[in-house]
Amino acid sequence: MTFNPLRERGVPLDDQLRNWRELNVEPIDPDHADPYTRCRIIAMNGIETEAIFFSHHLARHCPEIELKQQLARVRYIEAQQQKVVNWLLPGVSSVLETTLAYEQVAVDLTAWVARMEPDGYLKQAFEFGVLEDFDHLYRYANLYEMIEHRKAEKIVDQLTEVMPGRPTYLQHRDPMDNVREPYDRNNTAPISKLHALTITAAEQQTMNFYMNVGPMYMEPIARRLYQEIALIEEEHVTHYESLVDPGESWWEMLLNHEYNECYMYHSFMETESDPRVKNIWELHLNMELEHLRLAAELFKRHDGREPEEVCAPELPAPVTFEPNKAYLRELIATQIDFTTLGTGYVQDAHERFQKMQDAIMGGDKAPSEQVIEENRAKSGQEYRLQTEGEHPVGSLAFRR
Ligand SMILES: [Fe+2]
Ligand SMILES: [Fe+2]
Ligand SMILES: [Fe+2]
Ligand SMILES: [Fe+2]
Repeated sequence: MTFNPLRERGVPLDDQLRNWRELNVEPIDPDHADPYTRCRIIAMNGIETEAIFFSHHLARHCPEIELKQQLARVRYIEAQQQKVVNWLLPGVSSVLETTLAYEQVAVDLTAWVARMEPDGYLKQAFEFGVLEDFDHLYRYANLYEMIEHRKAEKIVDQLTEVMPGRPTYLQHRDPMDNVREPYDRNNTAPISKLHALTITAAEQQTMNFYMNVGPMYMEPIARRLYQEIALIEEEHVTHYESLVDPGESWWEMLLNHEYNECYMYHSFMETESDPRVKNIWELHLNMELEHLRLAAELFKRHDGREPEEVCAPELPAPVTFEPNKAYLRELIATQIDFTTLGTGYVQDAHERFQKMQDAIMGGDKAPSEQVIEENRAKSGQEYRLQTEGEHPVGSLAFRR
């Protein structure tokens, strides 16, 4: 069944405001919820956070008071949506448990997007990035075992493997080499725009999260690991945001944001296993349809174009959280030693890469290496979850 969000009617904006009772949602059960329900919540929180910050940036560039007022009205609803979505997370989960879930989102969302991406250059960008977040999951899983004495499968279940990806210490590149080339807004497939927006939003919220929670730890290794990985997430935001064509007008960007919110809520409504959470996705979709209609009006008025010229005529296949184990193993086997040079990819440790490495390491081992060593010393062995057999790269095989 096709679904064209530009043709659907949603809830009128005047009816979208919720009171305290409606905002006060019951969180998901931390022990029995589907891990992918938690992933959808985190992904959607990233999308809503991006919607809010984008609208703030737009408002700051907007001289017309009436327009600012309309943006403020829609943005307040986005802020309520964000509260409802993120407040589905249960308070009993520790920060580190939430961190593991964030990296599971980065792994399985980016892998799915990479598999579906029709543009070769964008696909490569997603494949490059996913191997790094895959490694973060492994580093944090070892920190989790070390300081909370628990195993990461409590969070990721058996859905996502936990083992080395591209080693985190090799992810510190010269910032110049993190900038990619953008897609061409006039020729790219609409799905590519949505993919770039979604992954940028997800990485940005991960970056923000680590920036803020990292110093809340007392354990020196935890403080240092969060600091290191937060800097990689800065690289990831630079990497993904640069894929978006900066030639898009503000109104075109607003339209893409609202369209993507419709796409994501619709995707999650179609694939959600928890009926209560599914109802929230459905309600929010119906709100977004109205946001999209308002954005389309602004686009028509200010850009003099039709939304159909830039948006997909129907929603693409739903974004789906599912295991990507074989795909990730194939990427590990073939792309683990990639790095970037300018806007492209190479397999050698070129001069600028090496210079950055020397500067940031300062002769020490990276925290991401130390966490593994410390956990081996403390727990007897490092933590891994290899459900599909030995690591695809011989030198990274598990050793007792
Ligand atoms: Fe929203
Ligand atoms: Fe990450
Ligand atoms: Fe990342
Ligand atoms: Fe929206």
